[in-house]
Amino acid sequence: MSNDITFSIIKPDALGSGNAGSIISRINKAGFRIAALKMLHMTRAQAESFYEVHRERSFYPELVEFMSSGPALVMVLRHPDAVEEFRRLIGATDPVRALPGTIRADFGTNVRMNAVHGSDSPENALREASFFFSAIEIF
Ligand code: CMP
Repeated sequence: MSNDITFSIIKPDALGSGNAGSIISRINKAGFRIAALKMLHMTRAQAESFYEVHRERSFYPELVEFMSSGPALVMVLRHPDAVEEFRRLIGATDPVRALPGTIRADFGTNVRMNAVHGSDSPENALREASFFFSAIEIF
């Protein structure tokens, strides 16, 4: 299993508040290369399918609502040990618990509107990247 890519979303909260540029700058400064990038407004059905693994969680309906509430940037990122390194860069899911200096600590609002998504395993990184991109769109 290749471990040099992860998948990320700059979520509707962060894009809407004008923080996408600052977040991408942090990602680049941390050594990640952008392998694929596009802006899209997820449909409810796309958000439901993307977050399928959370379907039974109590927060699933509001998560789907939020992720389909406005445009987002979806990205594939390259870095050695990409999944772990990116999770370190973004911090804990809940911005209140995220370490100072992490992206979620600095740009997240709450545990749902937490500015960015990062894959939680190399297997999910591949699944998530191929959800939004075809092979020829990943550089
Ligand atoms: P993400 O990394 O995209 O993975 C699942 C998302 O569900 C998470 O970020 C949050 O946006 C959201 N989430 C996780 N836990 C909660 C929670 N307790 N309440 C509301 N939203 C949550």
